[in-house]
Amino acid sequence: MQVKKAVFPVAGLGTRFLPATKSSPKEMLPLIDKPLVQYVVEEAVAAGIEQILFVTGRGKRAIEDHFDISFELEAMLQEKGKGEMLQEVRDIAEMVKIFYVRQKQALGLGHAILCSREFVGEEPFAVLLGDDIIDSDVPCLGQLLEVHRKYRGPVLALEKVPMETISSYGCVRTNPISERVFEVTDLVEKPKREEAPSDMAIIGRYVLTPDIFPILERQQPGKGGEIQLTDALLKLSKDEAIYGCLFEGTRHDCGDKLGFLKATVDMALKREEFNGEFAEFLKERLCDR
Ligand code: UTP
Repeated sequence: MQVKKAVFPVAGLGTRFLPATKSSPKEMLPLIDKPLVQYVVEEAVAAGIEQILFVTGRGKRAIEDHFDISFELEAMLQEKGKGEMLQEVRDIAEMVKIFYVRQKQALGLGHAILCSREFVGEEPFAVLLGDDIIDSDVPCLGQLLEVHRKYRGPVLALEKVPMETISSYGCVRTNPISERVFEVTDLVEKPKREEAPSDMAIIGRYVLTPDIFPILERQQPGKGGEIQLTDALLKLSKDEAIYGCLFEGTRHDCGDKLGFLKATVDMALKREEFNGEFAEFLKERLCDR
């Protein structure tokens, strides 16, 4: 079955990025000139997604406004003859069909995904987290969907990370199937370095099946007192095969201040309009140190 629906849990509190996220969603932080969430929506659309559900919370209205029509802005751009900008602004509102549901309390990623049950119905679906920005030739979600088409079951995006950072991630033990595809045999949320089953971390892209919902419904709070998707996936892995895909591309953790800075520099250097003057500026600054 083709995966056409994607869930975007955006109800988290973004504590790693305070105070910027006190009253603005972290998903709206701009990477150069586009909010983070738009990069991820574009990735989903490029991978063939037709419907998106945002699981939102308090203070996330800016996301809805961003993907809505802005009459005043469009009228002003039209009047001033700024056709290219007008088209760009319109395209954002027409990119994909978007739905919204509120997660009334930030009880964890697992709970946020449970809020998408009615939207998802009986089809496999994608989950994309707005703070992971993935720069790749083939959209990361597209790579996961390829694995899903072949093996049918849930697929998690995996990345090898330095062991000293593993305690920030969900971590997996795997059996290799091919160079980039694995069967996941164990999952631990934010393990201590010495207890981590490997250096392979779960990154914010998933293909899931509705089999996860009955498990999430009964899932007790885990690490951080939150209902963890990783814990529910561990239970699911006892009954059915779960796969991992070591995706090709560069991931930026934009939910973290340092990761966001690195992403900004990296993306800017890739843009023709900035790679001259901006690159020179960086070189000068580094030479001054
Ligand atoms: P994070 O663990 O990154 O949490 O959530 P967070 O609140 O967004 O950020 P920090 O760690 O406090 O800085 C992973 C994803 O799950 C969503 C978040 O919006 C993010 O996309 N999430 C998390 C929810 O939608 N609801 C929750 O209750 C928790």
